[in-house]
Amino acid sequence: MRYMTDEEYDEYWDELGGIREDIARDLVANQDALILDVACGWGYYTFQLARCHPAGLVVAVDIVPSAFTNMERKANDLDAPDNIAPLIADATRLPFRGGNFDHSTSFLGMRDIYMTLGSEGVESTMKGLTKATKSKGLVTLAVTPPDLAETEEERIAIEVEGEVFGAKSLPSTFYRDLYNAMDVRLLDIKPYSTGMKMTVEQTKTELRDGLEICKEVYRRDVPGFEEVWSRYGPIVEKHGYGMYSVIRVLVGEKG
Ligand SMILES: C[S@@+](CC[C@H](N)C(=O)[O-])C[C@H]1O[C@@H](n2cnc3c(N)ncnc32)[C@H](O)[C@@H]1O
Repeated sequence: MRYMTDEEYDEYWDELGGIREDIARDLVANQDALILDVACGWGYYTFQLARCHPAGLVVAVDIVPSAFTNMERKANDLDAPDNIAPLIADATRLPFRGGNFDHSTSFLGMRDIYMTLGSEGVESTMKGLTKATKSKGLVTLAVTPPDLAETEEERIAIEVEGEVFGAKSLPSTFYRDLYNAMDVRLLDIKPYSTGMKMTVEQTKTELRDGLEICKEVYRRDVPGFEEVWSRYGPIVEKHGYGMYSVIRVLVGEKG
């Protein structure tokens, strides 16, 4: 894992070292597939899914209406395909009855859903995704289970996200049980690495910005930067900060 440059840091979230593209490409079964992408945010993963399925359609769900304004802006900037149908909905109460989707997925959505709705929210989302999927269709989640972290820089970033920001990542055992309970056969847990980690200065910026957003946007009670740094700074100084350095994709097939 190498340290990213400041230019790479500026684009880090948008690009993530190309792993959204790699994941979408690896999961293509049919180019005309009907796909459900939940907690789509600004659509970075949605765009890749849509590109990989030129004859298909991606239904992109988010609970925040502004996600779609930003998605539209990004779609223009990035010349994204137009086989995308936006839908404002709560992932825990998806409005789909029959199993029509070939592939249902969420890229880093579960931590945000956990933040507001806890593990019950994650369970309800998984239930809705499974219900919406055809028999033998794919149910995939891109997550960062702490127990699978292989480096100290990866482990510390997952811990900080959960402990400081409340965006807790659940362990792989939780997801294994969940897949079992939904009769979705877990075929694989595949790691995708950006190959990069943040420097000390980039981490300080990341934490300061994150704390500000938590306070101002989400109105959460968060500790001050100095308190956070006194706890985690020494580890970051030694190992760097592996935020999203490795994303793990749980690949399941509905029974
Ligand atoms: C980390 S972002 C997702 C990133 C995105 N998938 C990508 O590829 O860039 C998490 C998203 O989850 C959304 N979210 C949080 N709770 C939700 C819920 N209950 N239902 C639907 N979306 C939700 C947030 O609005 C946010 O846009």
